[in-house]
Amino acid sequence: MVEVSLENVTKKFEEVVAVDNVSFKVREGEILTLLGPSGCGKSTTLRTIAGFYFPDSGKVYFGDKDITNLPPQDRNTAMVFQNYALWPHMSVRDNVTYGLKLRKVPREEQERRAKEALKMVQMGEFVDRMPLKLSGGQQQRVAVARCLIVNPDVLLMDEPLSNLDAKLRLETRKDIRDLVKELSLTAIYVTHDQEEALSISDYIVVMHEGRIRQTGKPRDIWDNPENSFVGTFIGEANLLELQVKSVHDSNATLEIPRTDRSLASEYVKRLEIGKKARIVLRPEKLRVDLEEDLNANHLPGRVKHLMYHGTYERLTVKLTGGPDVVVYRSELETPLKVGQVVYLRVKPRDVLAFGPAAF
Ligand SMILES: Nc1ncnc2c1ncn2[C@@H]1O[C@H](COP(=O)(O)OP(=O)(O)O)[C@@H](O)[C@H]1O
Ligand SMILES: [Mg+2]
Repeated sequence: MVEVSLENVTKKFEEVVAVDNVSFKVREGEILTLLGPSGCGKSTTLRTIAGFYFPDSGKVYFGDKDITNLPPQDRNTAMVFQNYALWPHMSVRDNVTYGLKLRKVPREEQERRAKEALKMVQMGEFVDRMPLKLSGGQQQRVAVARCLIVNPDVLLMDEPLSNLDAKLRLETRKDIRDLVKELSLTAIYVTHDQEEALSISDYIVVMHEGRIRQTGKPRDIWDNPENSFVGTFIGEANLLELQVKSVHDSNATLEIPRTDRSLASEYVKRLEIGKKARIVLRPEKLRVDLEEDLNANHLPGRVKHLMYHGTYERLTVKLTGGPDVVVYRSELETPLKVGQVVYLRVKPRDVLAFGPAAF
């Protein structure tokens, strides 16, 4: 296995800057996830690491070795794709050993390594099956085995679970993480699914329009977003725009329009007094009070919609002079009615406030 680093990699397709000055490092045995909305440059970054694309500028290193201009077949990477890409007319065995056949590995060794790789993905008993006689999850396991059999230095995965149903996605996610850890692979994983990224990764690189918006451990990305893009991209988040009244170090006071109230924030990124700030409020951090309390950090509003979700209730509140916000409540709390006046209480630490330089 090998450490992978990108230094200021830029890749353009004519006028489109698909990857814009991207740098990050993945250590041996770690899973790094490229996370971001469709079109943000995840696949292009991955393909640049595989050698399918060459960057316009910047460098790619495997360990100390500059491999920026090395062709793909000389890189020893393996890629798992969203659509499995198995050959339907070839058995599981032949699909898995294909790479070894190309490398003219002797037959007995092919057979031994196929069994070993299929065992790793719990598909040992399926060597003679045809791919179309397997479920989507099983086909994806075969695709992973086909990658592992060549002992890649780097395992690349481009939205490998997108075609699986929700339950299988959860299981397979765990299996992939276990496998990467067990074999100490260096893995780069691509997804647009935030929850998947949070649970599978050691590090996450959040991308938007070709650029990195934040790099960090899952908990960092969740708890300490550096900008409103990351704050709203991760989880279901509410976004408000409020005027900044005052800022002192990591505290700020924000005006709540059409009330004489203000909202306190203790999570402040690059605010400017008198300018607009983007405020991110997570639905699970909001509490519903029925009485106004001048000492509380309160946002007044009216209940607009209630929806039962089994383990929680999803409430939409129209804020006074502001937009709708979503609140998650546990069901045991007091029942509410549409139209009712409520006060949303939020701890200042949970009022994530971003100035224009951190939008
Ligand atoms: N082969 C290509 N030719 C031209 N434009 C491309 C090509 N591949 C990707 N792009 C463009 O580059 C941007 C990033 O694409 P991509 O890396 O596929 O994003 P993602 O994987 O995050 O959805 C998009 O605007 C896309 O349209
Ligand atoms: Mg893609």
